[in-house]
Amino acid sequence: MQPFLDRLEQLCQEALQQIQNAAEPTVLENLRVQYLGRKGKLTEFTGQISQIPQADRPAVGEAINRVKQRLTTVFQEKQTSLIPQPASKQFAFDRTLPGIPRPIGHLHPLTQVIEQICEVFKELGFVVVEGPEIETDYYNFSALNIPADHPSRDSFDTFYLEGGKYLLRSQTSTVQVRVMEKTKPPLAIVAPGKVFRPDAVDASHSFMFHQIEGLLVDEGISFAHLKGALDFFTKRLFGSQTKIRFRPHYFPFTEPSAEVDVSCLLCQGKGCSVCGRKGWLEIMGAGMVHPNVFRAVGYNPKKYTGFAFGMGVERIAMLKYGIDDIRLFFENDVRFLEQF
Ligand code: DAH
Repeated sequence: MQPFLDRLEQLCQEALQQIQNAAEPTVLENLRVQYLGRKGKLTEFTGQISQIPQADRPAVGEAINRVKQRLTTVFQEKQTSLIPQPASKQFAFDRTLPGIPRPIGHLHPLTQVIEQICEVFKELGFVVVEGPEIETDYYNFSALNIPADHPSRDSFDTFYLEGGKYLLRSQTSTVQVRVMEKTKPPLAIVAPGKVFRPDAVDASHSFMFHQIEGLLVDEGISFAHLKGALDFFTKRLFGSQTKIRFRPHYFPFTEPSAEVDVSCLLCQGKGCSVCGRKGWLEIMGAGMVHPNVFRAVGYNPKKYTGFAFGMGVERIAMLKYGIDDIRLFFENDVRFLEQF
């Protein structure tokens, strides 16, 4: 019986050694089948029991069972050690936990103001259109009655591209021309978008800002229509108590031209620090479309008249929300943006 037990012990040691060395679950599983499987080595030993004298059989059977149990435990331990464990229980994946909520963003305050402004004009039947930010001299100046040697060009400081072949538009008035070229009157459009001027950045200036251009053309349009439209617009946007006034001004593409003021939103016209004690805040330029602009797009100025206006979106947003620095719009500080 002793040689039998010695062989059994040898088999056990050999198995333990191999289990110890197994570095992968598949290798371990092969070993398990080889030793503990139905046709495995231990089963072979059990089959040989019949060759042992009757009296020794119980002791041999016990020895085989002990080896079987030992190997089974060691296999199980090794198996768990081969499964990758999370670094710490604390970080174990728990699929029943709620997910990480992603904060939902919202429209930028300038986009919100652009939408509010366009909504008001949509009520009056205006259509929202857009034009390119990279333009030619023709659309930014010439077609708008600003010839090459015209002194008014000085007031439109401009970023030129490719040696002057193109430029970044310095005003959205360009869209007036682009729309009229393609459309026959009557038409009424508002055109929001970015404009660019080489200004030094400070609390009230930026090299890029937004404008909304308006244009309405039909037969028999007068300054009264302009006043009516802008009165409706300012009351809708700033409140029904808002008053407007028109101060004579000069723009090359309109005649007559005006700067449009609204009664100060803060002091309602009494005079405060926001309006510089004047009681009025300038919000846009406007006027009756110059006949030369109509000529440039092939409209008959004897048949058609129209009005146009242009406003700065940042300025209106600043007045509406009491923001005192234009840079806040572009710094992307969520503590600022979250307030809108
Ligand atoms: N384009 C002008 C500017 O950037 C604003 C403006 C004035 C637009 C009068 C107009 C207008 O359409 O009629 O300063």
